[in-house]
Amino acid sequence: MKKLMAANWKMYKTVEEGVQTATELMQLLTSNSLQDREVLLCPSFTMLGAVGPILSKVPGCFLGAQNFYPAGQGAFTGEIAPEQLKALGCTYALAGHSERRHVLGEPDEFIGQKIVFGLHSGLNMILCIGETIAERQAGKVEEVLARQLAMGLANALSMATAKTLAVAYEPVWAIGTGEVAGPAEIMAAHAFVRAQLVSLLPEYGQKIRILYGGSVKPDNARTIIHLDNVDGVLVGGASLQAKSFSQIVLA
Ligand code: PGA
Repeated sequence: MKKLMAANWKMYKTVEEGVQTATELMQLLTSNSLQDREVLLCPSFTMLGAVGPILSKVPGCFLGAQNFYPAGQGAFTGEIAPEQLKALGCTYALAGHSERRHVLGEPDEFIGQKIVFGLHSGLNMILCIGETIAERQAGKVEEVLARQLAMGLANALSMATAKTLAVAYEPVWAIGTGEVAGPAEIMAAHAFVRAQLVSLLPEYGQKIRILYGGSVKPDNARTIIHLDNVDGVLVGGASLQAKSFSQIVLA
């Protein structure tokens, strides 16, 4: 499987700004070959329709959504359904990002519903997991990761494959803080996630991509991407500029 280099633009950029950054990014990536890399851009809902066609010009670049509501359609004011995202060209979606868990209060069960519904709808899903600093200090990293994986995948075990599911390990204390997890911490967590995936999904667990996220920057991306069991990255702040994200993609 190719390494998945994913950008999460969070609640940044207007449509015009997003189009400009995506256009610059495609210029930087077309002049270099992506080789063993795939690129995923997850901008705000507002610009999916404008950014999608720009990405589709470069093979290996994909459009994703940061979130959706797990229902086909209906009276869910303010929410967006997977079918609406697919109609705009989305092939991926995130679920369980720490900002949705900790700022928006989404529980494990709801995240599990999104994984099932997203897969059922034909989206490739990225399940984000990760411990807070308090949980790490209390020695609960493995307990938290095991619970988030088990509950996130509880009803999806018959549907998930190495193509349709990826997991992003993002320690909450490293997101947007500039404090990147060290190689030993990343390798320990990823080895644990790998073992859990193999036990939950014996057929695909070995091949499911495990991304690292949390203060990935151009100057640490090369080290991180070559660690054991690191099959990609999920980048927030450093993905907002085309130049820095392209440096990460090609690291
Ligand atoms: P960061 O965000 O790269 O700004 O730390 C990562 C993420 O939230 O996915």
